[in-house]
Amino acid sequence: QHNGQTSPVMQHGQPTETDRGQGDDYHTTPFLGFNLTEIKKFREAVEKRTKLRQYLFVTKNNTKLGEKFRCLETDEWVLDPGYIRITEKNFYNKLPQESPVRANMSFRSCSVVGNAGLLQNSSCGREIDSSTFVFRSNFPPIGGPYNDDVGKKTNFLTANPSIFAKFYKNLKKNADKKSLAEDLKRYVRSLVWTHPFHLKRYSEVTLRAYDATKRYKSLNPVLFSHPKFLRNLTAFWNEHGLKALRASTGLALATIAASLCDQVTLYGFWPFPLYRGRALSYHYYERAVIGDVEFRNKTLEYHLLTNFHPYHNFTEEFLILQKMQGKGILKVQVGECQ
Ligand code: CDP
Repeated sequence: QHNGQTSPVMQHGQPTETDRGQGDDYHTTPFLGFNLTEIKKFREAVEKRTKLRQYLFVTKNNTKLGEKFRCLETDEWVLDPGYIRITEKNFYNKLPQESPVRANMSFRSCSVVGNAGLLQNSSCGREIDSSTFVFRSNFPPIGGPYNDDVGKKTNFLTANPSIFAKFYKNLKKNADKKSLAEDLKRYVRSLVWTHPFHLKRYSEVTLRAYDATKRYKSLNPVLFSHPKFLRNLTAFWNEHGLKALRASTGLALATIAASLCDQVTLYGFWPFPLYRGRALSYHYYERAVIGDVEFRNKTLEYHLLTNFHPYHNFTEEFLILQKMQGKGILKVQVGECQ
């Protein structure tokens, strides 16, 4: 149970409504360096609750043929409780034998790149690319004109299945599969972490994404998140002060990174419409898909997307990340890089 005194993160209690700023009246906590004791405490707490090293991905080692997975969300459209049985035909033969995250694997430094509009003109690309391991979400544009601000190195790429559905027309035709494989080349050999057991109606498209990478000989391994991990991750955060129903991709990545890397820096985590009086777009690039709906960057939609999302709340998460920064568990880079 959450208790302000024992939580490794929320020592000063949960954020309150009055903590929620518009961007110019935010509360940032100074970063005074990485604190090895706090990092260790945090890692142990996450590992204990989520068994991250074992359950981050669905593997043959952690799954039985014929096992039934319960999806995280019930599909309200088809009244389906959302169970998926693992068969050779659907997932089993597509699973790696074991997790690529070995028992005591750790990286020296990691960058977690959120997609906030704050990254525009940040000049953080070089710093991001200089870390050992880089996490990104949802197929963001990188390199080329974006290189100065976000860099291009990618080792861990998340893909909400809605991206496959929306931008690759559900991957039904070979032409769309080919274009996914082509687009993945941008991320070189990065692994792709997608979520078949989140919402049942998006399960099949993740299998087609796997097929696309095989058919078109993409170098990117497609790996599936384990529903047990996602469930326990949210439970972990709910027990440490998060009120929202779910942890966002960004908070999940920050937690994974803090578990696998000695020094974690977050970039592009800024769920506010303003920075020092400058109006920002929601993402550092044009397109955003939330659930089934595609949005364009408009400041008006900002508040809706970040704070009235049915499941997660970036502002609440921002405050949690600030507290982690205060304890030296990770660093949250805001504004321009040196
Ligand atoms: O998958 P999701 O819709 O949550 O995220 P995204 O829009 O692809 O962005 C990745 C992550 O960046 C989010 O989960 C947030 O943690 C963070 N983010 C932020 O802090 N501020 C923004 N304006 C946009 C994204």
